[in-house]
Amino acid sequence: MSRDASSPDAIQSLALLGATGSIGENVLEIVAAHPERFRVVAMAAGGERWQRLAELARRFRPEAVAVWEPDAAAPLRDALADLPIQVFSGGEGVCRVAAWESARMTVAAIVGSAGLSPTLAAVRAGKAIALANKECLVVGGGLFMEEVRRHGVSLLPVDSEHSAIFQVFQHKRHVRRLILTASGGPFRGWRRERLATVKPDQALSHPNWRMGRKITIDSATLMNKGLEVIEAHWLFDIPPAAIDVVVHPESIVHSLVEYVDGSVLAQLGAPDMRTPIAVALAWPERVNTSAPSLDLSALGRLTFEEPDRESFPCLDLAWRALRQGGGATAALNSANEAAVSAFLQGRIGFLEIPALIADALDALGDASAPTFDALFELDRQTRRWAESWIRRHSSREA
Ligand SMILES: NC(=O)c1ccc[n+]([C@@H]2O[C@H](COP(=O)([O-])OP(=O)(O)OC[C@H]3O[C@@H](n4cnc5c(N)ncnc54)[C@H](OP(=O)(O)O)[C@@H]3O)[C@@H](O)[C@H]2O)c1
Repeated sequence: MSRDASSPDAIQSLALLGATGSIGENVLEIVAAHPERFRVVAMAAGGERWQRLAELARRFRPEAVAVWEPDAAAPLRDALADLPIQVFSGGEGVCRVAAWESARMTVAAIVGSAGLSPTLAAVRAGKAIALANKECLVVGGGLFMEEVRRHGVSLLPVDSEHSAIFQVFQHKRHVRRLILTASGGPFRGWRRERLATVKPDQALSHPNWRMGRKITIDSATLMNKGLEVIEAHWLFDIPPAAIDVVVHPESIVHSLVEYVDGSVLAQLGAPDMRTPIAVALAWPERVNTSAPSLDLSALGRLTFEEPDRESFPCLDLAWRALRQGGGATAALNSANEAAVSAFLQGRIGFLEIPALIADALDALGDASAPTFDALFELDRQTRRWAESWIRRHSSREA
C-alpha cells in the first residue's frame, strides 16, 4: 500500500470501472457534488445495465465508455451517437478505458475476478488506484502487489474496513494486530439447521449496508470478511496470524489497529460507503459528503462478539487458503463466485456454498500459480470443477 496520492489542488480525473454498480453510483454522487475537484473521463460496466451506463455517460460526459458484453456495445453506441464519446467493448475495451490516457486515478469497482485484468492494466499504465474490487488482491495477491510496487502507483482502499485501517495506520513495525469488524450479516445468531432453510431473497437483505448482490451474499456467509482478511494481509503486509475479526453488529467502528504498546486506534462513522470512497478519491485532502453525522449518545452503546466459526465456516476457509498460499486464494475466490451464482439461481442451498468451497480447496488448493496466466487458467479450471460439483449436488436434490 502506498499513501502517496496526487497533488491535492489538481482536478482528479477518474476512469470509473463498474460505473453502474453500487460503488460506481456512490462515486458519481461524490463527483457530481464536487465538479471543481473530480471529473470522470472514462467509464466501464459489464453491459447488463447498458441503458443506465448510457444515462450516466450523457450526464457526466466522459471521453470514452466500455462494456464488457459485446452485444451491449451496438445499442450503447446508438444511444450515445449524438455525443463525442468513444464506445469500446469486450475485455480489451474495458482494459483500454481502465488505462485511459487522461485519467490520473482508476476506480476499480467491477465485481469479482473480472476486475483483475482491467485493474492490472490501470496499474501498468501508472494510474493511482482506488480499490473497491477486493477480488484483485484475493486472486492476484503477491503478483498484483509486485506490479503496484514496480509501477510506483498509489493504492487507496475503498472497502470501509481497509479505509479505516489505512486512516489509522502508522508504522508497520509497531503494529501488533489488525482487527477487522464484521456486521455478522442478516443471519447473526442463526445455527446451521436454520441456515439450511435460507432463500436468496433473505440473504439479499443486509441489515446495515446496501450493496451489489454478490457482496451481499458474501456478507451473509461471512466469506466477505474472509476475503477482507486476505485483502488486509496484502494491502498492509501483515501476517495472517496478526489479523483478527470481531463481530460488531452496529457497523460504526469500521476496523482497528492495535500497536505494540497496547494503544488501539479505530475509525468510526455511520455505515455509509460515501465516506471511504471520498477518503480514497480526495486523499490526502478531505471533501464533504452527505453521509450522516455520528450521534453517539443516540446510539447509546456499541457491542462486540466473537464470530460463529462453526455456523459460518467461510471465514476459516479464507484463512486456510491464505495460509496455504500459492493459488489457494484464487481457487477459493473462483469457487465462491461459482457457488454464490448457483445459490442465487436456486441450484444449490445456502450451506452448500461453504461445502463447495471446502471441496474445491481440497481438490485444487495446492495448485501453484506463479504467473498471472497461471492464475487465469486456475480460475477457469476451478469454475469448470465447481460447475460439475453443482450439477452433481443439484441432481442429488432433485
Ligand atoms: N457495494 C459496497 O458497498 C461495497 C463495499 C466494499 C467493497 N465492495 C466491492 O466493490 C466491488 C463492486 O461491488 P458492488 O457492490 O458495487 O457491485 P455491483 O453493484 O454488483 O456492481 C458491479 C459493477 O461491475 C460491472 N461489471 C460486472 N462484470 C463486469 C465485467 N466483466 N467488466 C466490466 N464491468 C463489469 C457491473 O456492470 P453491469 O451493471 O452492466 O452489470 C456493475 O457496474 C466488489 O468487488 C465488492 O466486493 C463493494
